Amino acid sequence: MRFLKLQLRFLVPLIITLIIGSVVVLGVMDRLALRWFSRDLHMRGSLLASAFSDSIADSLATGQRYRLEHLFERTVKDERLVAVALCLPADVLGLHSSAYPAELSCKQATVIAAQTDPSWQSESGPVHIGVYPVSSDSGLLGKLVLLHDLKFVERRTGDARRQLLMFVLGLGFAILLITMVVAQMSWRGWISSVRGILHRDGHDALPGSTRRELEPFIADLRLRLRDLEDEYRLAQGSDARWTAERLRTLLRTQLSGDEIIVVSNREPYIHEWQGEQTIVRRPASGLVTAVEPVMRACSGTWIAHGSGSADREFVDAHDRLMLPPGHKDYALRRIWLSDEEVRGYYNGFANEGLWPLCHMVHIRPTFRESDWETYRAVNRRFADAVVAEAHSEDPVILVQDYHFALLPAMIRERLPRATILAFWHIPWPNPESFGICPWRREILQGMLGSTILGFQTRNHSQNFIETVDRYLEARVEHEHSTISFRGETSFVESYPISIEWPGSAASADWPSPQNCRDEVFSQLGLRAGQRIILGVDRFDYTKGIIERLQAFEHLLQHNPQWIGEVSLLQIAAPTRSALADYQGLHAKVHDMVAALNARFGRAGYTPVILQNVQHDQRWLARLYRAAAVCVVSSLHDGMNLVSKEFVAARDDEQGVLILSRFTGAARELSEALLVNPYHVEDVAQAMQRALLMPADEQRERLASMRMTVQEFNVFRWAGHILSDASRWRLRERIEARVRRRRED
Ligand code: G6P
Repeated sequence: MRFLKLQLRFLVPLIITLIIGSVVVLGVMDRLALRWFSRDLHMRGSLLASAFSDSIADSLATGQRYRLEHLFERTVKDERLVAVALCLPADVLGLHSSAYPAELSCKQATVIAAQTDPSWQSESGPVHIGVYPVSSDSGLLGKLVLLHDLKFVERRTGDARRQLLMFVLGLGFAILLITMVVAQMSWRGWISSVRGILHRDGHDALPGSTRRELEPFIADLRLRLRDLEDEYRLAQGSDARWTAERLRTLLRTQLSGDEIIVVSNREPYIHEWQGEQTIVRRPASGLVTAVEPVMRACSGTWIAHGSGSADREFVDAHDRLMLPPGHKDYALRRIWLSDEEVRGYYNGFANEGLWPLCHMVHIRPTFRESDWETYRAVNRRFADAVVAEAHSEDPVILVQDYHFALLPAMIRERLPRATILAFWHIPWPNPESFGICPWRREILQGMLGSTILGFQTRNHSQNFIETVDRYLEARVEHEHSTISFRGETSFVESYPISIEWPGSAASADWPSPQNCRDEVFSQLGLRAGQRIILGVDRFDYTKGIIERLQAFEHLLQHNPQWIGEVSLLQIAAPTRSALADYQGLHAKVHDMVAALNARFGRAGYTPVILQNVQHDQRWLARLYRAAAVCVVSSLHDGMNLVSKEFVAARDDEQGVLILSRFTGAARELSEALLVNPYHVEDVAQAMQRALLMPADEQRERLASMRMTVQEFNVFRWAGHILSDASRWRLRERIEARVRRRRED
């Protein structure tokens, strides 16, 4: 039906055009035919006049007029010629054939014949009048008047018109027919290509040419459909809010008795020596911020690198301890790595290779064979630890991040019935960019040992699927988002990570925003009434700290009213400082800050306060609540949880979030002031706008973002992955039962 309507949209104008075209063509044709016939008659007349000239001269000379009359009568036997007359000099009608109309004088005939349309209405019908001089050697003898029947011309024109009409109609019909057939064929082909690709059952379901030609469009279409699904889900909301309790219920009901094991490089608590004392601290890591509350809710075992200087002091004989400190919610199994292992696996392959490879921030990845070997060996060591910690054949294992790309396949080899959920916290690049990794195939194969592969956004999971499609002989089912490789199937999905929404206990601990300001301002030596633009990041080149400083400089330069009124407080938690790119960033940022402070600073006013330290969550919450503006200007970021923490901390619904478009969080927090961090003026303008934003607008924007973060919290993230895992396990159990029955 839809196709028919589309066709009609094309056919109706075509038919109208044909009708108008035919009318115009017929009009033109009539005029042309008349002109042709006139010319034809004129030629005939001239011929007759010259043919008759001798006979006329003879007859006039001899006085034998009857011969001439006889000649005239014979001539008008021609079906087209009605009458002939001879006008003598001085327009005297001499001789004429019998049918010549008596009322037509020679003078009148001469006048009519000189007109453009030399037709005249005789009693018997329309006639064409032609007057032709007849002369002999002795001079002009007279004029021959010829009357031609115009009905003959009309008859001929009518015939031609009919034939032309038939031709035009035939042509129109043929065009219609061909168009319909071609359109039908292309429509069907196109639709079936689109359908085929959307629902294709493997690589070869469609002829390659059609598929390849539509592939870019289809990939986009697929992405949009998925986005629509997400938006739909977002609009639907969930019937019940996700909480720690709901996650526990899910584990009790859907994964009852199942063991949960988490593997990550970074541990959730680090014990350090400080002089003679030991301290425990939470690392600056989005991964830890997100996964720790989940582990508190789920229990189970967390396996991670014991990187703290005092870590060994706190473990039992099996390198385990219960956490969080003072509670026994879950166990942490610490893995000890040598300096060489840290150099090759963590500093080298993970952070000089995969980290810049996945973040498109123009830092060149470095791949060394020796780092790769160590990365493999350390992954193997963690696989051993997982197997050692597992008490059952089919535990649920959550493998975290790019440090363990090879781990899923290594675990799968030894625990084939395990449910392995790998989550990639950072972006996944496009196939071309990923292709520069010399061990791209091994990495993809390692990851495809997972049951479920999770990414932060739809774009990242799509990039991953396309990368596999490009480099491995795997079967991709786009409709179900699954990849089958060497007999195993992995489900690839996006699960945007989040934070734990602060419960009443956490927020009860927060002083009022005014008290937070007082506390923070007195700590930093700021003048009351000043305002803070806050940045909280790891000291990482992906975070856009340089661009943020440039934007702040631009703001002060072009809006000098803020000098002395606004300070940028940049918290930059130390990270990966053994690496040259990070050292270079430190030096550059310190230089920029010094220059900026020298340029705009004055007694009692420091424009930029840079703190190269890591603060605990309690103090961070105070900073968030004291700030007028929070800036997240990452050049590329899987999610960015600082933006969500800021939103969660502002229960007064005041403050403005400036957020880079290139963070996963920007997809959810669209009420933030979204900026392109590479565009310095854009960020500076957003700072200006934020500083001038009326309280009502701040409230409106924050209220909406707070609803989003509260709803889409980290328990929902874990709940969705674990629900998918439980469905998968159920399916596998049913399939195993069916197989057993068949075998019996
Ligand atoms: C990112 C990564 C995490 C990592 C964190 C801190 O958020 O996705 O896996 O833990 O950075 O980096 P670090 O190297 O200090 O653990």
